[in-house]
Parts: sequence; structure tokens; C-alpha cells
Amino acid sequence: MPDLSINFAGIKSPNPFWLASAPPTNSGYQVMKAFDAGWGGAVWKTLGVPVVNVSSRYGSVNYRDKRMMGFNNIELISDRPLSDNLREIEEVKKRFPNHAVIASLMVQSRQEWHDIVRQSQEAGADGIELNFGCPHGMCERGMGSAVGQEPDVLQTIVEWVMEVAKIPVIVKLTPNISDITEPALAARRGGADAISLINTIQSIVGVDLDLFAPYPIVDGKGSNGGYCGPAVKPIALNMLKNCAQHPGVRLPISGIGGIETWRDAVEHILLGASSVQVCTAAMHYGFGIIREMTSGLEQYMTDKGFHTIYDFVGKALPNVLPWEELNMKYKVTANIHAEKCIGCQLCYTACEDGAHQAIQLNAGTRVPEIIEANCVGCNLCSLVCPVEDCITMDRQDDGTAHLTWKERTAAGDIPTEFNDEKAGGRHHWVPEPAAALGKEKHKTLPGKARQYPSAAEVPTTQA
Ligand SMILES: Cc1cc2nc3c(=O)[nH]c(=O)nc-3n(C[C@H](O)[C@H](O)[C@H](O)COP(=O)(O)O)c2cc1C
Ligand code: SF4
Ligand code: SF4
Repeated sequence: MPDLSINFAGIKSPNPFWLASAPPTNSGYQVMKAFDAGWGGAVWKTLGVPVVNVSSRYGSVNYRDKRMMGFNNIELISDRPLSDNLREIEEVKKRFPNHAVIASLMVQSRQEWHDIVRQSQEAGADGIELNFGCPHGMCERGMGSAVGQEPDVLQTIVEWVMEVAKIPVIVKLTPNISDITEPALAARRGGADAISLINTIQSIVGVDLDLFAPYPIVDGKGSNGGYCGPAVKPIALNMLKNCAQHPGVRLPISGIGGIETWRDAVEHILLGASSVQVCTAAMHYGFGIIREMTSGLEQYMTDKGFHTIYDFVGKALPNVLPWEELNMKYKVTANIHAEKCIGCQLCYTACEDGAHQAIQLNAGTRVPEIIEANCVGCNLCSLVCPVEDCITMDRQDDGTAHLTWKERTAAGDIPTEFNDEKAGGRHHWVPEPAAALGKEKHKTLPGKARQYPSAAEVPTTQA
């Protein structure tokens, strides 16, 4: 049985799954219920300066049959009395001494930071998370992302906190910045023990076509909010990778953003996270999702022979390279497995209009055919094909050659002029422009033969 427990910068937790600071961690009732269900830790809904919230507060991007593919909020930090929250933190810690309770904090002055850090410690919190990420409301008052976007200010506040902190301090970063490693480095300079990312992305999720106002609507008006949920995972993973690969950051990272399943969590871990936090998925489906998450992670670790989480933290990082270091001799082309094809011809349309005119339709069959010599191996057809493994991308080179753009540059073997013979697409066949119109167009209708040259007639693309 693999060991799921973690020690994150000194914060111990029975598993790497924490609830992120958000509505699911608004009260002791919710946190106890979550721990009882199997969550390993909880970052309490941010405690700090007094606030008043508006209604409504949430907006959603629904994509086809999937609701809340992206989620947006204009909510502020906790609006409950500080003393109630601290009392409940104490109560939760007494009942669940081995679970991780982290106090998320956001105040302004040095004295306020000192006071609230001390109070959180006295309440028994295992760690502190500094919320430098909230992209609405709080930033207008000089907090949240207003701090996260100013590395010098961030560093100063971390230093204030470290003056009194006796428990590990995590700095939560905002993604609303061009280079997230800058605040990450500032957090390290300030003496933080760890970082977490991402907080929400500044956004407008939609506009009401009758009221002419953005969602969520507050008395006919709206405001930019913070975006999260499955849609933000790719952005979170990239920022996580940037911090994890940066030689100057070298801090434990708690991965946040779009985590809904054990697979999402493993992806974050493979890119350098050693704990993961979840908000939208818990708001959407409730605390019960933890059962599938822990059993899925356990099964994955068993299958891979991993004994602890640390066996695979950052395991994918060596495989994330700058573009210029990728092997240009690696060649794949699309291959349609006719026995699986349902004849929808989505691949044909995608390649014809959106890629490289490398798929043709033949009379008497609805199964398209790849013009291999014209296929650049872009993947598009395999991505649009609705049948799993019906289009595979098959390797064409023999694996012996390796040449990168960096190496070509060093060898002086790159195209340097606009019409250079060495340009990648120089000998790549495309139909004549006029073939898009008139009679030629009708030849592309299903069931009619396409007037493409045969594979033998098409010049091969440059290596
Ligand atoms: C309604 C709502 C309220 C949130 N409140 C806070 C907060 O008080 N403090 C904080 O650090 N992050 C807050 N967040 C951000 C989440 O902790 C998390 O960083 C973000 O939602 C990304 O994770 P997800 O994709 O799993 O939702 C909030 C998010 C939502 C949706
Ligand atoms: S998209 Fe897939 S199933 Fe549809 S025609 Fe192409 S190969 Fe066949
Ligand atoms: S991989 Fe790209 S170029 Fe090749 S057939 Fe598919 S869509 Fe066309």
C-alpha cells in the first residue's frame, strides 16, 4: 500500500489533498465534515480586514453539456468575525490533530500582520498562507493581487510575517502577472517556507445580452472577477512548471487550479507540486470527490511502483524543454484505422480548412484517406476525431537522428531570408488558390473523388 502522507515544508498531512481557501473552508462545520470524508488538509477561508459582500457573487462558463467548466467569483475574504473563525480552527485542530489546518491571512499594516499571525498560531494552525492573489475588491484596497503584482511589496510583507511566525509560511501567488517567478523569488527572498499557486485569474465570464451587463450581476451592474475551475488547469500547470524549474525559487509548491480528479492532481505533482488544493470541484460536487481522488492516486502509485508522493514530485520536469531544444528529426503522420471509423469526416473538414489539406475523400466510402506526403503531423485530425484511437499519430523516422533548432542555429544551418530554401514549408504542397472556388469545390463533396496529386507526386516536406 503506498504512503500518501506528506510533510509540506513542515506541515504534516495524511494525504496531499487540501481544500483551497474558499467557501468550502468557510467554517469549522465544513472543515470537520471534509476531514471526516477524507481530505488531508484545509486552507481556511481568508481571515483578515472586515468586509461586506455583494449578491450575486458567482458566474459560470458552461461548455456544451458541461456546467461550470470555468467558474468566476466576485466574493471577498471571510466576512465572519475573526474570533469565531479562530475558535473554530482551535476546535477542528483538537478533533483532528493529524490533519493540516492552514490559516489564510490578508491584512494591511505591519502591526495587523503581527497580530493576526500570532492569533492564528495561538489557535493551533499548522501553517499560514498569505493571500497575495485575490484579483477583485481586496486589490482595490491595496491587498491581494495588488501585493502579488509588486515583488518588493510582497517581500516586505513576507519579512513582517517572518518576524513573528513560528509555523511554516506559504505565499499564495496571483496568476495576474506576466512572469510568476518574480513574486516567487521575492517570496523566497522574504524568507517564506513555501509557495502556492494559482489564485484566480482576472476575468469576465460573459455578458447578459438583454441587460447589457457582465455576470455575475449586482443590481444591473457587474465587475471583473476571479476565474478558476477545470478551464484554468493549463495555465496553472504552466505557472507551476515555471516556478518548479526556476533554479532560484527552490521552495515546496502547493499546486492549485482546475483539480477535479486524481489525474489532475498527479499532473500537478509531476510538474513539481508536493501538495494540491481544490476549490471549484468541491463547490460543484461536494466533499465526497475525495474518495475517488485518494483511491485513484493510490492505484496510480501502486501501478507505477511509487511508495511515496516524493517518488514522483517533479518527475515530468526534465521533459519540459524550451522549444528550441526539441528534436526536429522526430516525424509523425496521421493514420486512420478504417475499422474504427464512423465516417463522420470531421477529420477531413478540420485538415482541409484548418490545417494542411492532407486528407482526401474517395468515391464509394466515407472513410477518409491521409495523403501521407502532405501530412505535417500536427495532430489536429486525431484531436477532432470522436472515436478513441481511430486516428493514431505514427512515427515515421527511425529514431536515430536528433537535431534541434538550437543546434542548427549553432551550426549556421537555419533559414535567414524570407524566401530561404531552408524554410520549413518551402516545398510543402498546397492547392492553387483558385482550386477553392467553382468546380473544384464540388469535387470535395462526400463521395466524390478529390483531385489531389498522388502521394508520389507530392514533394516531401523538408526535414
Ligand atoms: C468563490 C471563491 C472564493 C474564493 N476565496 C478565496 C479566498 O478567500 N482566499 C484565497 O486565497 N483564495 C480564494 N479563492 C481562490 C481559490 O482558493 C483557488 O485558488 C482558485 O479557485 C483555483 O482553484 P480551483 O480551480 O480548484 O477552483 C476563491 C475561489 C472561489 C471560487
Ligand atoms: S474523424 Fe475519425 S471517425 Fe470521423 S471520419 Fe475521420 S477518422 Fe473517421
Ligand atoms: S495530422 Fe494535421 S496535417 Fe496530418 S492529416 Fe491530420 S490534420 Fe492533416
